[in-house]
Amino acid sequence: MDGNGRWAKKRGLPRSAGHGAGAKTFRMITRYCSDIGIKHLTLYAFSTENWRRPAEEVSALMKYFKQYLEEALRDFADDTVKVNFIGDITEFSPELQELMLENQRISADRTGMVLNLAMNYGGRAELVTAFKKIAKSIEEGKLSPDAINEQLISDSLYTAGQPDPDFIIRPSGEYRTSNFLLWQSAYAEYYIDDVLWPDYTKEHLNKALIEYSKRSRRFGGI
Ligand code: IPE
Ligand code: MG
Repeated sequence: MDGNGRWAKKRGLPRSAGHGAGAKTFRMITRYCSDIGIKHLTLYAFSTENWRRPAEEVSALMKYFKQYLEEALRDFADDTVKVNFIGDITEFSPELQELMLENQRISADRTGMVLNLAMNYGGRAELVTAFKKIAKSIEEGKLSPDAINEQLISDSLYTAGQPDPDFIIRPSGEYRTSNFLLWQSAYAEYYIDDVLWPDYTKEHLNKALIEYSKRSRRFGGI
């Protein structure tokens, strides 16, 4: 979800207003993806690098996260979406962490779309965490180095047990991955859209999905 700041700047508004508008898009797109039968949706909400932003902006983002997480607990009781957080959530305030864990708890048995919210997520940090876990198992004598394979690494990530992403959309016209799902995206199809996230609509997503349906995925074959 990119382009909130530029969206606000274009309108002479503070960046936090862009995050507010982006939060609305987030709600709408999440609902839409669930309605059209997407099985797994991962949204990059806050990266390990986003802490570098001015304190005022970080606290505005935290306010929107809190609002959404409280709303989800209060209003989405009958929802089918299973909420999951990827990233090191221990860096957030105890209150936010509790809200995240509670959202995971109450949705754990749901069988609809899996919504992964990447919070304090970085692809490199995720790999470091995974490698430490693997090294510990070796140190404890539970694992032989020869048993390390791609599956074991996949199973040691935050996304363990979930399929790799088929399709990654980046709005706001930036051509970079910004540390998103580095390992998991090996064969993902990419799609860059110029639209800024607060202006992103169902129509943008439909267009992207139609384009995806025409891609020929060969996974290194022919
Ligand atoms: C939202 O867009 C991404 C978040 C960190 C929530 P940005 O805040 O990166 O917007 P731009 O890239 O400055 O326009
Ligand atoms: Mg940005």
